[in-house]
This record gives sequence, C-alpha cells and structure tokens, in this order.
Amino acid sequence: MAVPTTIAPHDLEIRLRDLSRPWRWEAIFANERPVEIEVGTGNGTFLVNAALRSPERAFLGIEVSGKFFSKAVRRAAREGATNVRMVYADAAYVLRHCIPPTSVAAYHFYFPEPWPKKRHAKRRLFQPDMVARLYETLEPGGYLLVVTDVTDYFETIEALLIAEARLERLEESTPPLESARGRTMTSYEKKYRAEGRGIHYGVWWRPPTDPVEVEPPPADAPLEALKEEPMPHVVVERPVKLRDYVAGFRPLAHKEATTVCKATEAYLNSTGTTALVEAVVIEEGLPQKFFVLVSEKPGQATVRLARPDGPERTRGVKRLLALVAKDLLDRSPRSAYGATNIEPFLFHEARGEEP
Ligand SMILES: C[S@@+](CC[C@H](N)C(=O)[O-])C[C@H]1O[C@@H](n2cnc3c(N)ncnc32)[C@H](O)[C@@H]1O
Repeated sequence: MAVPTTIAPHDLEIRLRDLSRPWRWEAIFANERPVEIEVGTGNGTFLVNAALRSPERAFLGIEVSGKFFSKAVRRAAREGATNVRMVYADAAYVLRHCIPPTSVAAYHFYFPEPWPKKRHAKRRLFQPDMVARLYETLEPGGYLLVVTDVTDYFETIEALLIAEARLERLEESTPPLESARGRTMTSYEKKYRAEGRGIHYGVWWRPPTDPVEVEPPPADAPLEALKEEPMPHVVVERPVKLRDYVAGFRPLAHKEATTVCKATEAYLNSTGTTALVEAVVIEEGLPQKFFVLVSEKPGQATVRLARPDGPERTRGVKRLLALVAKDLLDRSPRSAYGATNIEPFLFHEARGEEP
C-alpha cells in the first residue's frame, strides 16, 4: 500500500492576502497541471478523493465555513493529497477577482446552498454575472458540473446556463459527464441518496473550439497587493478618556455601494489604556471579522488593527478604522485628526471640515 506523503495542513491553505490578483496557478500549485475547483467543499470528501485519484491534476477547494474549511484541510493533509489547496473565502469573491481567465479545467458544485427564502435569493451563488465569470474562467473544453436535490434551484441554474449561450449542455454519454458519474460521492450526496431524495445532475462545457480572447486583468480588484503595506492607522488628538469612550460606546454602521462596515462592541483592558472594538466589514460578499485596537497615550489615541496578520487591508477595512476614529472624534469636543496613513478614507463631514 502506498504510504501517504507527509504534509502539514498549513501547507495546503492559501490566504487571500498572500497573493496578488488575479492569481497565477503556477504560484499556487508550483506546477502547470489542469486545475479543478470545488465550490463549497464541506468536509472535503469529494475534493480529497478526486485529488488522490488524479495526481496529474490540481484541485482547489473554496469553503466559506471555518469549521468545514478546517475539516477539509485536515482531511487532505491526513490523506497526503499534495495536489490540493484550500482557500477560506466566499466563492463569489474568489470567482469575481482571483481566478484567471480561461484557466480552469472543471468546476464542481455539489449541493450549493439553495437559500430557499425569497428574500435570501440574492445570496445564491448562481447569478447572471457569476455564470458569465464561470464561462470566462473555464478553458476551452473545460466543464462545470452541478448537483443538487433542490428542484427549484436546479431549474433556476438551468435557465441561467441556457441564457449563457457560450456554454453548451453535455449529454449523458459525453466523457466529462461519464467521469463525473464515476467520482466519489460527497457527504451530502450519500446522505440524500440514502434518504431516497431525487438528485439533479447537469454538466455544461465551454466547447473546445471556442476562441480565447486575451483579457486584461480586472481593473477594479478591491484587494490591492497588501503584504508590504504599512499598518493603517489614525491618530485622534485630545480625545476623551478611553474609559469614558468605551462606557458610552454605541454600535456603529456605515454602508456605501457594495460595502457594509459595522462596529458592534467595545471592550476596555484592565488598566484603561487600550480598547478593542469588535468589527465586521462585508465587501462584495467578502466578510471579514476582526478587532480594532484603540490605544491611549497622553493627549492622543491611535486607532489601528489589533493584529498585524488580521484582515485583508481593504478599502472597507480602512473605512471601518476611519468610522471608529470619527466616532472617537465626535465624542471628544476638543479633538482633531492627527497623523494618519489613511487620509482618503477619513470622514470629515461631521464637523464641516473639508477632506
Ligand atoms: C450543502 S453543503 C454541501 C457540502 C459538500 N459540497 C457536499 O456535497 O457534501 C454546502 C457547502 O457550501 C459552503 N458554501 C456555501 N456558500 C458558499 C460560498 N459562497 N462560498 C464558499 N462556500 C460556500 C457551505 O459552507 C457548505 O460547506
């Protein structure tokens, strides 16, 4: 029996902030094998088995739940699936900004979240712009497999894929569908089959003869290359005592375009010189939860991220820091902004100041 190659879970994880966008597969997998992507891996049963069965291919799993992400990474490491990488992220974000054009050999969607309530329908992964991205990122001859037990969602997906005329539906006898049927079932698939639920399968492909247009990288990727970027911060001169700021803290919220910034709680340390503000920023579907640190020195307070390896330093995260700084300013009658490296993100309107 082959002895699995030893591999540590962290060798299989890729982090959004470590890579500039769009990604280069050679940098992620250190080779140029065809890339297959599973969206929403759950515990990784399919991904790991597929990777072990096809060592000549590379497999990326995208999972938004921390619990399932860790399970899938541990499974891949335990089984020695060295051709697997996992990213802990919202697939909508990864598809929009990270996947290079005409570079994916196959997409696998097993039991995508159906979001059955009408008001939640916009959270479904299959949306017209997403279908266009799937087409653009598939290589000619690449295919997309969708499996679900939810008839209504399957019909919606079919309609969206029919509307994307550049993709073709494959018949039962074509090779990608046959090999897809020979694959290991996912955990949900085993469970639902055992329950006797009806399951829908569909495979669409980008025809091998489809011409490839050379596309420039997306100009508006919101997460710049961030590794060398200095810690974003704002100094507030002459603030109120931090103890008073935390005692009177009320949740903060700010929304603009596709970004939502919220600060929900503030906690003071035992000496009253630092506070942690709990925050969440959602940008184009990418949620990031983190803490902001407010530290007090005589005559000033500095607002910055609590951990240097914390969230991606996106525009929304900088706006959130500015929101906390503004709140501190609003609560401190004699205060003013001091040194900062996020000046374009500051809120100036409150005091009638010009930006
Ligand atoms: C119903 S489960 C199916 C899991 C697995 N595919 C299976 O068949 O066993 C759906 C999975 O998709 C993940 N998921 C849902 N929305 C996602 C998104 N936007 N990006 C990445 N993963 C997502 C969920 O966390 C969950 O693990």
